[in-house]
Amino acid sequence: MSSTSIDVFAKARGHERAEQLRAAREADVLPYFRTLEGPARPVVEMEGAERIMLGSNNYLGLTGDERVMQGARDALETYGTGLTGSRLLNGTIPLHLELEREIAEWMGAEDAIVFTTGHQANVGTLGTILAPGDTVVADSGDHASILDGCLLSRAKLRPFRHNRLDKLERMLERAVDDGGGVLIVVDGVFSMEGDLAPLVQIAELAERFGARVMVDEAHGAGVLGARGAGSAELLGVEERVDLRMGTFSKSLASCGGFVAGPADVIEYLRIQSRAFLFTAAGVPAAVGAALAALRVIRSPDGPPLLAGVLDNARYLRDGLEERGFAVVSAQPLPSGGDVVTPIVPVLVGDDWKAVLLWRALYDAGVFVNTALHPAVPPSGAMLRTSVMATHDVPTLDRALEAFSSVKAKFEAEHGPLPGPGTH
Ligand SMILES: Cc1ncc(COP(=O)(O)O)c(C=O)c1O
Repeated sequence: MSSTSIDVFAKARGHERAEQLRAAREADVLPYFRTLEGPARPVVEMEGAERIMLGSNNYLGLTGDERVMQGARDALETYGTGLTGSRLLNGTIPLHLELEREIAEWMGAEDAIVFTTGHQANVGTLGTILAPGDTVVADSGDHASILDGCLLSRAKLRPFRHNRLDKLERMLERAVDDGGGVLIVVDGVFSMEGDLAPLVQIAELAERFGARVMVDEAHGAGVLGARGAGSAELLGVEERVDLRMGTFSKSLASCGGFVAGPADVIEYLRIQSRAFLFTAAGVPAAVGAALAALRVIRSPDGPPLLAGVLDNARYLRDGLEERGFAVVSAQPLPSGGDVVTPIVPVLVGDDWKAVLLWRALYDAGVFVNTALHPAVPPSGAMLRTSVMATHDVPTLDRALEAFSSVKAKFEAEHGPLPGPGTH
């Protein structure tokens, strides 16, 4: 009998990032896996010190909101700690059905389906709707879960350069000759850069080429538009987008995901989507919290929160620019005016510099996220800051002061950082 001399575990030992990871750990500058000791509020307790939280997706600040916590508690008391089975067999509770109905109403869609995570919502939708023979045209900046769903489906993947409409058009020209159905899938708000997809032009191209459109509203739902229904609402294309995906793990202050769209497509997912059928339903507390958060957003208390997070984003963006950092510009809207989304990236460029700057900010009492290659293009390392509706101006001012003082010291030691206009 022959045997292999190749150990499948070998890749775990020799992978290309191992050396960098080891060096960062040794220098105690690793920006990942840091531990939080309380809820993700504007100021958090992290590893023995108070830090201003500029690295959370808790955009409306609802994770510690009494109404949302009560929604989780009530669900826990009524339905217990877990559902121990899939939605299909024994894991559906009335809260799932209420949540699906209210999400469909919120999105102005015929129906909606709730998944256990947002990642599963993307994988379970794309992996089911697309099949070999179809073509999926995806922005290169799309979230990893979109790519995973596309790969799972074995449809032909035609990626186009981030937000480049000329490249999208070229891919659509090729896609129609592929011979199957065509789906365009984009993030409404891109998770690292915080920029919007040009949905008006994308909808026009989709109509011209007979393609369907799916938008991932993970960072748009509960943030943008008068109802907080996301980038499609803000850009006035709700009727022209076929499927809208969202997650509960950001503005909705919980964990889980959804897809809203035509009733027949949603029903097809309910009986065919493996990421829906072959996993346990989200725990009752998660479903109860998401439902309570959605009700806050749709109540008269919602609009001030939606306005608050965008005001804070603009305040932070402008403040960082005034202090000499390279931040993205506000994005013009087709209806006039412009918007700054709650994701405000600060371009650093070099990976190692980004990690050192992260550490200096952390020591100065500010937590931000760090995006290094391959999450961003080579030499595109950045600190991803994000705000909540519940940050107040004095707290943001303190964070900005920390950015200023850290910058002066950092540049004296490590050379200049990119300045405004470099993004
Ligand atoms: C754009 C985007 N889509 C999907 C997801 C996945 O959502 P979840 O964290 O709920 O699995 C995320 C978040 O991680 C995201 O940023």
